[in-house]
Amino acid sequence: MTIGETHYAARAGRMRASEIRELLKLLDRPGVISFAGGIPDPALFPAETIRAGYEAALAAGDTALQYSVSEGYAPLRQWIARHMGSIGVPCGPDNIVITSGSQQGLDYLGKLFLSPGDTALVGWPTYLGALQAFNPYEPRYDRLEPEHGNATPEMYRTAAEAAGSRVRLAYLTPDFANPSGETLSLAARERALALADELDIPLVEDSAYQALRYDGEDVPPLLALDVAAKGDIDRSRVIHCGSFSKTLAPGLRIGWICAARGVVQKLVLTKQAADLHTPTINQMVMHHAAEHAYPAQVAKIRAAYRDRRDRMLAALERHMPAGVSWTRPQGGMFIWVTLPEGLDGAALLARAVDQGVAFVPGRAFHADGTLGNTLRLSFSLAGAEAIEEGIGRLGRLIAGAAKAAA
Ligand SMILES: Cc1ncc(COP(=O)(O)O)c(C=O)c1O
Repeated sequence: MTIGETHYAARAGRMRASEIRELLKLLDRPGVISFAGGIPDPALFPAETIRAGYEAALAAGDTALQYSVSEGYAPLRQWIARHMGSIGVPCGPDNIVITSGSQQGLDYLGKLFLSPGDTALVGWPTYLGALQAFNPYEPRYDRLEPEHGNATPEMYRTAAEAAGSRVRLAYLTPDFANPSGETLSLAARERALALADELDIPLVEDSAYQALRYDGEDVPPLLALDVAAKGDIDRSRVIHCGSFSKTLAPGLRIGWICAARGVVQKLVLTKQAADLHTPTINQMVMHHAAEHAYPAQVAKIRAAYRDRRDRMLAALERHMPAGVSWTRPQGGMFIWVTLPEGLDGAALLARAVDQGVAFVPGRAFHADGTLGNTLRLSFSLAGAEAIEEGIGRLGRLIAGAAKAAA
């Protein structure tokens, strides 16, 4: 007797490996230039500072190896509260809970706010990991596009009611989104906030890339705008997810949620039940790294990734055939490419790997699996030569596929 499909809870039905995961296994082939992985460049990690942080944490006594409180290491929460203040969000440590990466925060928010059949409004495309985090809570999805004009609150309500549902949550990545690279304008942020107010729902702000701006002016976080409008963070409906993964290092798994105290208290209870707390020693080390290295580290990675973004944009100009368009991100790690109608990113990937270049097809980032004529390129790991050669290969492949489809 083995455990099979009939034994799992209904929510497990939506936990499936995607076809794309299968394709991405091919990337290890020798000679493949990969623009697929959206991960930081390990050569840029502040390794020495982190090593010193572990030594200091272990030298300080037993605390680093002991259980600790679910809300997180107090000095780290204080550092984050100051950091949030520096990006326009006046708050205190009681507004912060430490999570094991912002990914865990997304899971907890799904758990707290989504019952089966509820409607979650998400970007189109949106971060695949957010869909994976929310899916086990069995929501339906609707499209949130504040830059291009949302549906009216009434339209969202009517569509939800027709599906026997209620709109319960909105999720956005306002800065340098994964996968689109786009940043929401101030007007779009205000539209998203007004919509959340009218629908009376929490608005989750995923700020994983917020510090990675390469040019242009900072736009205030949704949480900053809402706190300014409501007069106090404890009256805000915005739940801000932050992360050290893209700035310092992802392997320690340290993220945070900054929100009204009432929401933070619920999240602390959720965390207590799930994993008690994020590893004590990693929180202490991240605090050490943030204290000693944060501004210099952010300056260093901005310079490195800005250069790679510029090279990839220039290579796209040189090599892409007519009919292909792409975003010009002001930060982050991603460029989003739209192929001519009729071409499919997933079909193209199978051939691209044979030609020695890889990317992530766009369908996975759409909650309904549509818009297959898109793909995501990451520039965070690519050297100058690889960018020129890889984008050249991709351009030739797309030109060939477009000709064949015509
Ligand atoms: C938009 C976005 N949010 C959240 C995460 C999760 O990051 P972490 O859990 O490492 O903080 C990622 C990682 O790629 C991401 O791209």
